[in-house]
Amino acid sequence: MRRGSIASLLGLGIVVGGIAAAVALALPWLPKPASNEANRIQSLFWFVVVICIVIFALVAAVMAYSIIRFRADPDDDSDGPSIHGHTGLEIWWTLIPTILVTSIGIVSAIVLSRDDALGKNYLRVNVTAQQFAWSFSYPDSKGLTSGTLRLPRGRSVELILRSKDVIHSFWVSEFSQKQDTVPGLTTKLHITPNKLGTFPVICTELCGLGHSVMRTEAIVMTPAAFNKWVAGQTKAITSPNTGVAGAAVFKNNQCGACHTLAAAGTAATVGPDLDKLTAYAQQAGKPLPDFVRQSIVDPNAYIQPGFPKNVMPQTFGTSLSKQQLDALVQYLISSSKKG
Ligand code: CUA
Repeated sequence: MRRGSIASLLGLGIVVGGIAAAVALALPWLPKPASNEANRIQSLFWFVVVICIVIFALVAAVMAYSIIRFRADPDDDSDGPSIHGHTGLEIWWTLIPTILVTSIGIVSAIVLSRDDALGKNYLRVNVTAQQFAWSFSYPDSKGLTSGTLRLPRGRSVELILRSKDVIHSFWVSEFSQKQDTVPGLTTKLHITPNKLGTFPVICTELCGLGHSVMRTEAIVMTPAAFNKWVAGQTKAITSPNTGVAGAAVFKNNQCGACHTLAAAGTAATVGPDLDKLTAYAQQAGKPLPDFVRQSIVDPNAYIQPGFPKNVMPQTFGTSLSKQQLDALVQYLISSSKKG
């Protein structure tokens, strides 16, 4: 090979590799990582991207060079020279991909095993998916359930995921991991949040009419703020004052994400306006307390005209303790009368 050809190939390779690298670096391909696991996964991603860019530059340079340098004349219909095997070349193009693919395999295995490992003193959170809501309970703090996933920064978390009806999928893009929730199975996901903030929790498995509204938030707090939240919530839930307990149940289960309730300061319009419960109960022809309780436990029993069926979680009522359900019913009745 002439020295001039090598220089041209090298030049082409640098140009093509530079363009590919610019595209890779200039665009925000990935969310900003917010967990140790996400950091490792993204490092692995960039490791593979660098390999891809080098291979792409090499192949594209050889192709571009050949197209220019070995172009046949327009009226040249002759066959090209017949070329047989080149042992040296074949050894290299077997050896290099073998080394690259093996190294990707080794690095991936390291990332997977480190992401699977739980730190000491990890936090367990039960995640329950149902059409069309997420709920989270903290088995180490009895009775504590929440409609938002609150996590302390810097502590390993084991999510234990279950579904009450169909297949859903838990995804927080900043944590870079997804896990399906499958009826009859318990699946797990390990996260070690390392950034404070609020991140969307999204269901990524088409699960029915309300799939697109099956969202909540993961809130990563300082360990001190998290402990304070746990203590405050536990106190509110077990409060003998049903108003305080009912308000906590309403807030924890994110009822306000779909419903308007002036007393709770929410204004969503996905579901019926809870300030109008008295009027709805009259339309349904039921006493207010029975109507409210039934609408929580068996939401399809009466559907307010103008709202779709099957959007309110069918099994939400059974996910509450009797005490929590009573408190919520009381809270809605008293808030609605004020409204
Ligand atoms: Cu649950 Cu989509």
